[in-house]
Amino acid sequence: METLKEKYAPYFKIGTAFEGRDLDRKADLIRTHFNSMTCANAMKYVSLTHEPGSYHFDRADRLVSFAKENQMAIHGHTLVWHNQTPDYIFENTTPEQLLETLRDHTQKVKDHFGELASFDAVNEAIEDKSDAYLRDTKWYRILGEDYIAKVFRTIHEVMPNTRLFYNDYNECYPEKRTKIMRLLKGLLAEGVPVSGMGLQSHISIYGPDFDEIKRSIEDYASLGLRLRISELDVSMYKDNNPDDPQVSMPNPELMKKQADYYRELFKIYRSYAQHIDAVTFWGVADSDSWLNYFPVPGRRNYPLLFDDNGEPKEAFYSIMDF
Ligand code: XIL
Repeated sequence: METLKEKYAPYFKIGTAFEGRDLDRKADLIRTHFNSMTCANAMKYVSLTHEPGSYHFDRADRLVSFAKENQMAIHGHTLVWHNQTPDYIFENTTPEQLLETLRDHTQKVKDHFGELASFDAVNEAIEDKSDAYLRDTKWYRILGEDYIAKVFRTIHEVMPNTRLFYNDYNECYPEKRTKIMRLLKGLLAEGVPVSGMGLQSHISIYGPDFDEIKRSIEDYASLGLRLRISELDVSMYKDNNPDDPQVSMPNPELMKKQADYYRELFKIYRSYAQHIDAVTFWGVADSDSWLNYFPVPGRRNYPLLFDDNGEPKEAFYSIMDF
């Protein structure tokens, strides 16, 4: 059987985000189909350090070693974010000290993992609500309105050979897209070393519309940035609405809808392949997707290409057979 990574080799890399428990259960599947990896959690700031002076790399090391043994590209995730970041770095600090702390953290990451080809430098900095532009975060409060430019510069000084990405979700909806475009244009106009845009693509069988997806790819690519589809999953729930009841499975109709959606999506990605470095799924098999506990703990979701047993779903065949 042809594998995903073979099928898509002429277009872009096919990535997956995983954890140690995915390796325990699905190592063969990962090895067979994927040629790029992102640590689902293990490289996040708080996973590496949760108290001053102490760093733990073991969790990420296991995943990185596996990726290297299997010739997978490694994409770093993530440095500056409002979530999964230790509180201690923000306590009793001046702006200058916080930038130094980030510089030091970035240096440790580089010394340990080597200089990766690409890294999410800043994650989810745009506000979703209509009445605000930037998200109100500790980074923003301490470093000020131009903090994104500052942190990109700091990170670039430490990792000059790494392609630095801005990464966000709801990135193809017009309102947020406009704000992200404003941010990226501003950064580029000031010569800030941002070289890529990560389109998280946490989407669903109900949308967004394919036109919005095309337009967003065109917009971001028009800035001369490299693109990654960085966290793809196609949820069974519209906008991941927490009030929607659990879908019951097996449900051939929903699985067909998902397969059709995936096929259209990959048609689009293929047609813009010259701009796209990788399409990365946020997970390996349905059983271990983060959407089984977000936004509703225990509400099962089925957003990926492989089922609970690691068997290919209709969605898998839909992107292989055309
Ligand atoms: C998620 C992980 O998959 C979960 O295991 C964790 O509990 C929360 O974070 N956007 C991102 C990712 O950039 O880092 C998030 O990953 C999903 C949303």
